[in-house]
Amino acid sequence: MHGSGSEATLKRYTNLALATLLIGAIASGLFAQGFGTEWSRVATIAHGVLGLSFLLLVPWKSGIARSGFRRRRKGAIWSVALVVTVVITIGSGLLQVMGTTSRIGPLATMQVHIGAAVLSVLLVGWHYVRHPVRPRATDLSRRNLLRTGGLAAGAGIALAGWESALGVLDLPGSERRFTGSHERGSGNPARMPVTQWFTDKVQRLDRLQTDVDGRVLGPDDLSSLPMETVEATLDCTGGWHSTQQWTGVRLDRLLGEVDGVSIRVRSVTGYERRFPARDADSIWLAFEVGGQPLSAGHGYPARIVAPDRRGFWWVKWVDSVTVSDVPAWFQPPFPLT
Ligand code: HEM
Ligand code: HEM
Repeated sequence: MHGSGSEATLKRYTNLALATLLIGAIASGLFAQGFGTEWSRVATIAHGVLGLSFLLLVPWKSGIARSGFRRRRKGAIWSVALVVTVVITIGSGLLQVMGTTSRIGPLATMQVHIGAAVLSVLLVGWHYVRHPVRPRATDLSRRNLLRTGGLAAGAGIALAGWESALGVLDLPGSERRFTGSHERGSGNPARMPVTQWFTDKVQRLDRLQTDVDGRVLGPDDLSSLPMETVEATLDCTGGWHSTQQWTGVRLDRLLGEVDGVSIRVRSVTGYERRFPARDADSIWLAFEVGGQPLSAGHGYPARIVAPDRRGFWWVKWVDSVTVSDVPAWFQPPFPLT
């Protein structure tokens, strides 16, 4: 027996809902990590709702999976692999939020989360090739819209319950920032974690030698720069944030006239980010943190301090600062190397 018509519709709905949730979770996850402003809060909450919706669909999807396995098709092992990566993605997401540990084995919890999410997307693509479910106009029936409303409401309630459980159990997660990041070593630079883009390694440089739009800035030039100290929060996409006093020079003062649309900042590692020229009055080239020269791990001799932007903008070991005519949006939203 193959089940009634309405059972088949429920099956379709469940599978299409999973596909939509997956796309939504990836998009909101990237959004949450791409911004250090209020946008991140909106995306982080949406991400929690989407993530928990997966869990609510488990009872329905397990029925589908059981009947699928019963058919003993070739290649079912790929579906097992998909179950494993989705379980790891959701489990590591919840662990990241709890904040009781920031690592799983040798990796940061957030690296496991994003890595497993990427694998899940690849495996779902393959899963879809093996089990095509073509969306139809009738999938937007009143009944399915009601189901979607029910799912969203259920996930919203689950999220509220989960957030209050974090508070009741007094887990670090109850105090996380609106980006989802946990506080580490504020006011104590030695306790601030050292992390960089996963393709980079800590550089040990012996002196300042930074090309500022064609002039070389060396240690002797520091005393003549209009230095100031600013308090700013470094919020890393690895899942931590740290507030420190940074001392440096504002980019508009460092460069004088900014005759271009963007400012390209490059590290000795080759890592680079491009900032809109209009933001030059709110970004600093910093030489000290907490009144002491930067440590190698935190970017000695010079790093970027860019409040309200996530950590991947805070270029370390700055080798050059160049005014350019290439617009700032002309770069991948996240670094590739
Ligand atoms: C995202 C998490 C998902 C997981 C963990 C998952 C897991 C599974 C498993 C374990 C099976 C049974 C083994 C098999 O037949 O290969 C299965 C079957 C199936 N899945 Fe998924 N799946 C997911 C998403 C999707 C999506 C997005 C679609 C389509 C849009 C889909 C459509 C199907 C279909 C049509 C079957 C066959 C059911 C049958 O033959 O009765 N699945 N899934
Ligand atoms: C298959 C895709 C994904 C699923 C199913 C998923 C699921 C989850 C779940 C269930 C949580 C815990 C939510 C909570 O307790 O509030 C979570 C947290 C998180 N995920 Fe994902 N995720 C996915 C992809 C991603 C991606 C691609 C990124 C980033 C690029 C990301 C970034 C985050 C962040 C930053 C948190 C912490 C949010 C917070 O503190 O509330 N996720 N994820």
